[in-house]
Amino acid sequence: MEMTYIDTPADLTMQIGEAMFTQRAIRRLRSDKPVSDADLKTVLDAASKAPSGGNTQPGRFLVIRERDTIKAFGKLYHEAWWAKRRDAYGWKNRSDMPEDSPYKMAALLADEMVDAPVIILAFTIGRGGASSIFPGVQNLLLAARALGLGSVLTTLHADVMERVNQMFSVPADAEFHCCIPLGYPRGNFGPTRRFPTSQTTGWNSWGAAPPWK
Ligand SMILES: Cc1cc2nc3c(=O)[nH]c(=O)nc-3n(C[C@H](O)[C@H](O)[C@H](O)COP(=O)(O)O)c2cc1C
Repeated sequence: MEMTYIDTPADLTMQIGEAMFTQRAIRRLRSDKPVSDADLKTVLDAASKAPSGGNTQPGRFLVIRERDTIKAFGKLYHEAWWAKRRDAYGWKNRSDMPEDSPYKMAALLADEMVDAPVIILAFTIGRGGASSIFPGVQNLLLAARALGLGSVLTTLHADVMERVNQMFSVPADAEFHCCIPLGYPRGNFGPTRRFPTSQTTGWNSWGAAPPWK
């Protein structure tokens, strides 16, 4: 494949700090406001700019745009999401979920994936794997944020992979990594809560606090 240079997309003007510090999981997406092909090109171009081992660029993205296909895929996503909860907690449906479960919004997304405006699936081909696709996925999420698009990184489950691969004619040497619904948010991006870096960083030695502790 021929490699090309591309200029910074004119619409990516949000400061990198603002994009990083306000990017978060957006699971409630507007189904009434379409995402343009131009915006999808921008987020995919941003993903293409990420590093990969030896610049081998094994990442491949599959964009699901057709409504009927999103509906069919959304049903598989729902099945996959509940298969993960079954494996992890033995839950079969919402009535098994504790009232205060942190998975309530994720369960809502499992219901609403059928209505997502766009879904992007991330794969790698050949050698490379996760470590060479996730830098690109993060670029994609940040570029989406800069364009005002909500997104969330999600995964699937082995139970549905054969059907997903068949649905999109995915070749046998392609490895699936994640599924990212995209759309304008219902609500706003809101704040995120994270551990302080003073508690997650070792300074010269594991467990030694950094100077800003
Ligand atoms: C590897 C990985 C798998 C994830 N899987 C799911 C998922 O299956 N469903 C979902 O709704 N969110 C999923 N997420 C999103 C996380 O729950 C979310 O990024 C995290 O809770 C932080 O959310 P916040 O940025 O809104 O604070 C996943 C994130 C990662 C990195």
